[in-house]
Amino acid sequence: MKIMILGANGYLGWPTSVELSSKNHKLLLIDNFTKKNILKEYNRQPLLINKSMNSRIKLLENKNINFKNIDCSNYTGFSRAFKSFMPDAVIHYAELPSAPYSMFGHKEGWRTLENNLKSTFNLITCIKDFNPNCHMIKLGTMGEYGTPNIDIEEGWIDVAHNKRKQKFLYPRQASSLYHTSKIMDTDLLWFYVRLYNLRVTDLMQGPVYGIKSNNKISNENFFPEFSYDDLFGTVLNRFIVQAVAGIPLTVYGSGNQVRGYINLIDTVKCINIALKNPAKKGSLEIYNQFTEQFSVNELAAKVKKALKKVDIDVMIKKIRNPRIEAEKHYYNASNQKMKKLGLKPSLLTDEVIIDIAMFIKKHIKRINKKIIQPKSGW
Ligand SMILES: NC(=O)c1ccc[n+]([C@@H]2O[C@H](COP(=O)([O-])OP(=O)(O)OC[C@H]3O[C@@H](n4cnc5c(N)ncnc54)[C@H](O)[C@@H]3O)[C@@H](O)[C@H]2O)c1
Repeated sequence: MKIMILGANGYLGWPTSVELSSKNHKLLLIDNFTKKNILKEYNRQPLLINKSMNSRIKLLENKNINFKNIDCSNYTGFSRAFKSFMPDAVIHYAELPSAPYSMFGHKEGWRTLENNLKSTFNLITCIKDFNPNCHMIKLGTMGEYGTPNIDIEEGWIDVAHNKRKQKFLYPRQASSLYHTSKIMDTDLLWFYVRLYNLRVTDLMQGPVYGIKSNNKISNENFFPEFSYDDLFGTVLNRFIVQAVAGIPLTVYGSGNQVRGYINLIDTVKCINIALKNPAKKGSLEIYNQFTEQFSVNELAAKVKKALKKVDIDVMIKKIRNPRIEAEKHYYNASNQKMKKLGLKPSLLTDEVIIDIAMFIKKHIKRINKKIIQPKSGW
């Protein structure tokens, strides 16, 4: 297949590119390094600094891979690349993925909304105008649903009202501007799909953890840059960095907040499943992409228990919650669709936590303790 990967230098984009490169696809990778630039602007650093994209691509066996530095929110540049490549499928990761960054202030909030909506709008309009058969695979987030007091379905819900029934998008209630941008994306995509008979898969993913796209990879050129800072790090990755750095794991508020989590290995497997099972024409296929549900307290306890086995003594500290969010709530989300299509989850075992910790320990000198504590609150 001819596949475009937008946001190919990111935490998920680079491992996805590496995995798809082994499958003989023709790939066009796109990124404008906006995350790298934002990290610099806010004095945050990832744990790894990758070599240039072009030198990493040369290390891959597949020679049908090109990279272009293009801003997906710029229609002229993006549409030119789309038209000349004419993809069969596009994997869209090119968004600003941070709740705390989006809530930092007016500039950051608008930058998130503008970047994410423009990138999504440019892509769906290119598909409509130039290649309506192209399958778009878009990353959404479980955070779009919020924490409703009913079970969370996979994207859609049947509503019965005054003796009539209709299927609607499952209600969405964001808790940050970042999550709001993802809800707006979903609405936009559903609008285009139903008007123009397009095919879109929207993956409602939970927070991702890990560093490898599969267990056999050890060459760090194929690992993504790994963020652990307060703006771009995800909770479990941050906890393991805190543990290795000998500082307490920062549990926000009561720690009873429950979410669905997923290993990076499974993110890549789900992308492969989505590629093999394209949405039908006129259909917005939505999957809940997580494998296990944990409270923040459970995550912290799991890290403490696992790392005791390798003599890392983990401290846990509850701090004032910097976010406005429910700390005690019902949470029961469905995640059957990916499993029905063949996903065998890689679960959060002690070995998985130890493996991530050993990778972090190897780079312990690069940990900057000043960028870990939360500085953005709302
Ligand atoms: N990492 C997670 O835990 C997680 C969980 C749920 C959903 N997601 C979603 O998955 C996607 C990827 O997340 P990630 O963690 O890899 O983020 P990331 O920030 O590491 O990667 C995104 C990449 O896209 C690039 N990018 C952003 N805007 C761009 C633009 N306008 N033009 C070109 N490139 C652009 C960035 O430079 C970056 O390299 C996002 O849409 C995010 O919302 C991530």
